[in-house]
Amino acid sequence: MNKTEDIFNNAKNEVQKLWDNQNELSNFVKFPDNLILKNIKSKKVPITNRLLNWKNNINTNHKDVHLAISALSPYAKWEQGYDEKDVGNDFLNKYGFFELIGPTGHYETSEMALYVNFLDKNAYYPWHNHEAEELYFIVSGKAKFECEDQDIEILSSTKTRLHKSFQPHAITTIENQVLSFVIWKNKFENVSKIVKR
Ligand SMILES: [Fe+2]
Repeated sequence: MNKTEDIFNNAKNEVQKLWDNQNELSNFVKFPDNLILKNIKSKKVPITNRLLNWKNNINTNHKDVHLAISALSPYAKWEQGYDEKDVGNDFLNKYGFFELIGPTGHYETSEMALYVNFLDKNAYYPWHNHEAEELYFIVSGKAKFECEDQDIEILSSTKTRLHKSFQPHAITTIENQVLSFVIWKNKFENVSKIVKR
């Protein structure tokens, strides 16, 4: 194995351990068997190096997971998912995700999708929705979650939040950045869209 493969496999193993220990994750969707690393070209976004350099003040119960994902940052195919006209330039300087596991992920499977999601401090992720059922799992940091028909909640490490199919939600950060896993199941072919409220 080369160095990049080691870094990916270490991250995958840390995620799998998390699944073994966190019922909210394993009850939401089974961790896929036999994941094979694909050769996908890395792509950077403005926050790629911010996650790579986030090694202190992690605010986490899952330090090994955080550090494994942080180390992966320069090798991942980062995406932003939205157009500037819909979300604004400030948001695109503070937000990025990559598909670690999924139909088009670094580890390919059709059973689920796991996106690594980073949102910098002082950011507002506008109201959006999607067909997939979604579970957020906070790895590190903190953010305010708003959702139609749910109470507003500040989530920190280990906390989860479920979004039903097409249920609109928004995320705000203030003094903390946030690293989360966003897990999709059922109908994850269609991407997320910004919604007017
Ligand atoms: Fe979502």
